[in-house]
Amino acid sequence: MAVYSDKIMDHFTNPRNVGEIPDADGVGEVGNPVCGDMMTFYIKVRDNRIEHVKFKTFGCGAAIAVSSMTSVMATGKTLEEAMQITPQGVADELGGLPKVKFHCSNLGADALHLAVNNYREKLGLPPLGEPVSAHDHDDDEDETPSCGSACAT
Ligand code: FES
Repeated sequence: MAVYSDKIMDHFTNPRNVGEIPDADGVGEVGNPVCGDMMTFYIKVRDNRIEHVKFKTFGCGAAIAVSSMTSVMATGKTLEEAMQITPQGVADELGGLPKVKFHCSNLGADALHLAVNNYREKLGLPPLGEPVSAHDHDDDEDETPSCGSACAT
């Protein structure tokens, strides 16, 4: 079983911003095809700034903690700043993730970025960038987005 920091346990047992925004300006949904974990982010935007973030995550403890931390980090940021939130940044804010769980942090940043680009798409604007996981594994072949036996933790 993976060993988690106190901060991960805090965000897992007391996740911030859980829920849905029915009239969201942008929605981003991602899933891990191997473990089946799913994450959806909802954002409200005002003056190019993320005013509210909510999320719904069906997944492991790390995925829930990552969702919670990503939502906290994104709140109040401009859309451009939100696109700079990376899996590594989220993992760092959580005090580090076990290597076997690092792929879970990709889901958070990806879902957020997709929500931002969904908002822009509705306005007829081009996307601000690709989801981070599309180019985040190049330097470490071991960090595949498969969960394996780690899904139970
Ligand atoms: Fe599948 Fe975390 S996202 S184990």
